[in-house]
Amino acid sequence: MLITNIKTLFGVREETKFLRGKEMASLPAIDNAFLQVEEEEIIRYGSMDQLDLSEFSDQENIDAAGQFVLPAWCDSHTHLVFAGSRESEFVDKIKGLSYAEIAQKGGGILNSAALLRDTDEEDLFQQSWRRLEAVRAMGTGAIEIKSGYGLSVEAELKMLRVVKRLKETSPLHIKATFLGAHAYPMEYKDDPQAYVDLVCNEMLPKVAEEDLVSYVDVFFEKGFFDAKATKQVMDAAQKYGLKGKLHANQLSNSGGVQFGVENGLLSVDHLETMGEEEIKALLGSETIPTLLPSAAFFLRMAYPPAREMIDAGLGVALATDYNPGSSPSGNIPLLIALSCIQMKMTPEEAINAVTINGAHAMEVQEELGSITVGKKANLIFTKPMNSLAYLPYSFGENLIDKVMVKGQF
Ligand code: NIG
Ligand code: FE
Repeated sequence: MLITNIKTLFGVREETKFLRGKEMASLPAIDNAFLQVEEEEIIRYGSMDQLDLSEFSDQENIDAAGQFVLPAWCDSHTHLVFAGSRESEFVDKIKGLSYAEIAQKGGGILNSAALLRDTDEEDLFQQSWRRLEAVRAMGTGAIEIKSGYGLSVEAELKMLRVVKRLKETSPLHIKATFLGAHAYPMEYKDDPQAYVDLVCNEMLPKVAEEDLVSYVDVFFEKGFFDAKATKQVMDAAQKYGLKGKLHANQLSNSGGVQFGVENGLLSVDHLETMGEEEIKALLGSETIPTLLPSAAFFLRMAYPPAREMIDAGLGVALATDYNPGSSPSGNIPLLIALSCIQMKMTPEEAINAVTINGAHAMEVQEELGSITVGKKANLIFTKPMNSLAYLPYSFGENLIDKVMVKGQF
């Protein structure tokens, strides 16, 4: 398949390394470009001047005149598998309750866990499938999905089997994460250690045995899991060869960033509450700071200090955190707009953060996240616009014309 007359082809890279500091500002591009796809892969690209069309007479030709083409988004942090929705809590929040107060009342994560337990696997799959198809239409080509609304052996496995079925059914690249340590179920309120033991000694072995996940995550936060519990879960994960990710520094500056760096975790995610110490800890480490500004937007919290972090030389990834409680949206174009408007990231920085850097945060950088020969043909075709900055500028407008995943629209 040959795509011709692309107004500008963005995210063209020979190297696929993680971008840090000033490197994040550059989004390499070719104007008036072509791109050739064979089966699932990008096999060649360049400027239209270099193209001898007679060589391609028997190829399917797609004319992309007036359109930008970008690598599809890599959303490295979501909870896309969940049951129902929580808009009544949303209204409670408007009326003055905080996220932490709602959780205290048995709302929040526990509310979603109760809904999920009453939803059968087929229904849970259908609900999740609709969300996955919706994010694909907005340009997502790879996605990480966490468990964590089961909170019992059986229900955590149900969630992860749904993720497995999504993987088998969808062309999207899906990575699964076990987040059994997301909240303490009510019945463990008086003996939280017993729940941590259940996560480590019963859930994790089963999850590993069925080969259901790539990563293990913990909600490291006051009122949720502390350093000791988190360490126990991460040590158990290591026994099964699973890397760690962490919900860190969301509601309070609780030492999650330092924990992640000291324990060599793949990423520390959220980071609404950060100081200079946390930025220093991340510099010189391989742990990827992943910012989730749609959660800050939805919970009316301060945004992560993206500008300070990038100016200090850090690379960041951006992800949606798609979940029913703190970010009921998997819309990456909107996430890019929020990042530019509220965190002063440039459009190029934001796009790099949800393409190549997002790919690193879910370890798919060898196959996805840039326009590179040999990578999967996961491509976004935009509607006509003058410059790429129009995408976050005209926030809320659907500017995605079509999306190709592994060579198919
Ligand atoms: O990433 N912070 C913890 N977990 C989710 C929210 C979960 C929920 O409220 O359902 C998050 O924001
Ligand atoms: Fe999350």
